[in-house]
Amino acid sequence: MANPRPAPDNAPFDVAAVRADFPVLDQTVHDCPLAFLDNAASAQRPRQVIDAISHYYRHDHANVHRGVHTLSHRATDAYEGAREKVRAFLNAQSTREIVFTRGTTEAINLLASSLGQSIAEGDEILITHMEHHSNIVPWQLLCERTGAVLRVVPIDQAGELLVDDMLNMLNERTRLVGVVHVSNALGTINPVETIIKAAHDREIPVLLDGAQATAHMAVDVQALGCEFYALSGHKMCGPTGIGVLYGREDWLQKLPPYQGGGEMILSVSFADTVYNKLPYKFEAGTPHIAGAIGLGAAIDYLTTLGMDNIAAWESQLLDYLTARLAAVDGIQLIGTAAEKAGVQSFNIDGIHPHDLGTVLDHKGVAIRTGHHCAMPVMEFFGVAGTARASLAFYNTPAEIDQLIDALAVAQEILA
Ligand code: ALA
Repeated sequence: MANPRPAPDNAPFDVAAVRADFPVLDQTVHDCPLAFLDNAASAQRPRQVIDAISHYYRHDHANVHRGVHTLSHRATDAYEGAREKVRAFLNAQSTREIVFTRGTTEAINLLASSLGQSIAEGDEILITHMEHHSNIVPWQLLCERTGAVLRVVPIDQAGELLVDDMLNMLNERTRLVGVVHVSNALGTINPVETIIKAAHDREIPVLLDGAQATAHMAVDVQALGCEFYALSGHKMCGPTGIGVLYGREDWLQKLPPYQGGGEMILSVSFADTVYNKLPYKFEAGTPHIAGAIGLGAAIDYLTTLGMDNIAAWESQLLDYLTARLAAVDGIQLIGTAAEKAGVQSFNIDGIHPHDLGTVLDHKGVAIRTGHHCAMPVMEFFGVAGTARASLAFYNTPAEIDQLIDALAVAQEILA
């Protein structure tokens, strides 16, 4: 297939050296070199993250905040050190604003549960048509519990939010605006500054779902001014099972706890329980200590590469990916917003995405197929699912070429 544009080759870092940090990338799948283009589902981990977790379990493991012995101190220092790394990464004002969770999903459920206690019948939660299920279903559950109303901002055929509609949907009953920062299915980078400003003009708090943003761009929660920001470790080269809810301190102070148990209390009696200070009020039970440490190591890794460098290289890769895909016969690109991060969904005439994904796997190419946990997006575009290639900073133009070659094979076999 004709190559419509030259492959990018001016990464701001040494991509080969970066790839050497990721042991998993160095393998063949079905006798082909692995081209891992499923990073939006979960990114890979560099050895620095694997080593940090291994070191912790080999040398330092104990429960945190609970022991006077040396290992407990070491574990606590490492765990709280990771919290400080997250704080610096997001430029939060204080570690009191960094709550460790199991991931973005739990972070949003935490907020829906705690905020939900002050939501009344007729109140409104405003989300968008391009949310991941994890920023839809917790709010639906909240609305079922309280009689609140879930309102949904429409999108257009490019996969962009209809921001004017959104601004018109804000009103005196709106209790929260929840918006995905970067869409996992479409790659759209939403104009969150405009949305936050409009919400704040009406004193409405804003939650950003940052699961797909934090691996791809610098995020500064103070500059954004959002009240809440959720992220997942495994999307940004950290472990699974660890994530963060950033909450502005004044909000976290006034919200009730999410789960009850150890760690989130100062004192317990049958007459009365006094909750712990922030952020522990929201961290019931023994936390995922190794996960937090791994996330801290991932943040160190990303920070050393530089988030702006990562964004610059991924933008070149996305331009190349989009141009090469657009030249494929019978392709429908889904998600063509002007502002995008490294995700491209597509369908090819006459081929089911799952069949496509299976043939690609036999050529060593890993992509995701299906609804991407964003069924309303699929419904909007009138498709059951899509194939989706999603990029990370360790990807190369050669891997994109491998995808395009594999698509040609799939068309030969399946179309
Ligand atoms: N939310 C993840 C994805 O987009 C699993 O694939």
